[in-house]
Amino acid sequence: MTAVAPPAPAASSVRHFRTLRDLSPSELRDLLVLGERLAQRLPPEPDPQPLAGRSVALIFQKNSTRTRVSFEVGVHQLGGLPIFLSQADTQMGRGEPLRDTARVLSGYVDAVMIRTFHQETVEELARFSRVPVVNGLTDLYHPCQLLADLLTIQQEFGRDRWSDLRVAWLGDGNNMANSWLNAAAMLGFELRLAVPEGFDPDPDTLARARSETTVVLTRDPRDAARGAHVLNTDVWASMGQEEEAEERMSHFRPFQVDGDLMDRADPDAIFLHCLPAHRGEEVTEEVLEGPRSRIFQEAENRLHAQKALLVHLLSGAGIHGAAAGPDPSIG
Ligand code: CP
Ligand code: NVA
Repeated sequence: MTAVAPPAPAASSVRHFRTLRDLSPSELRDLLVLGERLAQRLPPEPDPQPLAGRSVALIFQKNSTRTRVSFEVGVHQLGGLPIFLSQADTQMGRGEPLRDTARVLSGYVDAVMIRTFHQETVEELARFSRVPVVNGLTDLYHPCQLLADLLTIQQEFGRDRWSDLRVAWLGDGNNMANSWLNAAAMLGFELRLAVPEGFDPDPDTLARARSETTVVLTRDPRDAARGAHVLNTDVWASMGQEEEAEERMSHFRPFQVDGDLMDRADPDAIFLHCLPAHRGEEVTEEVLEGPRSRIFQEAENRLHAQKALLVHLLSGAGIHGAAAGPDPSIG
């Protein structure tokens, strides 16, 4: 019997958001400008409801509060229909192949967001999807969170400061750290990672970023914090690493973000955390709830930044032109 050839992958002209690198640096900048406009509660132009009559599937194979709610509300605010699909309640939970799910969903919806474990799952979904695929977190990257974090930094420091900024990452070289590497390379800021030995970020992502911007990898959190404009951390055990949590704690304890570390940063420094946070572990209560913390602005920015992303991926005009608007931090 002749083997059946696998169907041709979906058209490559579809724009995906598998990692930040699926945007060009200028698209990323434009997207952040549009995000700022949306954060001011101004509608996208020229069409305030660019997703009218469209639907977006939201696949979750891991837990979520922010990603789920911000995507559901964001799609709704843009005039579209969000459809939440959990692993457990769909045929994916009973083993239906992703490549089949991708092609089935492509006949119903206009975009698919997925939160999953392996980056390869997002890549495969994108290969077989005829509509844009958005990475809502994998073990390797969390690009939607970076859009929100970068928007928060831009709101604080302005649009033209990127090349002067020093961002410090303290703790695990995890999916967030990898996405920070991509962001630093694309916007040209300095990234300092203070990570315990054995927990470095993805080597390919690190090497590529190092060839494009200043990246410092240190074992001393004080070196990373000194004069930094942003101090930034995340949980020490990510989703899927729950059983390692206790063992990891002993490696990460010296990397806790506390008042002393914040005092070593730039006088205007802000603190970011993608949340959920573990108070008393990666960050002290004092810093998390302190005057330099921007964690709830950052969380809200998930909504605005992802709406900008959806406009980019789904509106015919794309991000260029939709992003016009003055810089509110100037003048
Ligand atoms: N920061 C973040 O992605 O939060 P959720 O896990 O709640 O979606
Ligand atoms: N690094 C964390 C981020 C959660 C939003 C995780 O993957 O669990």
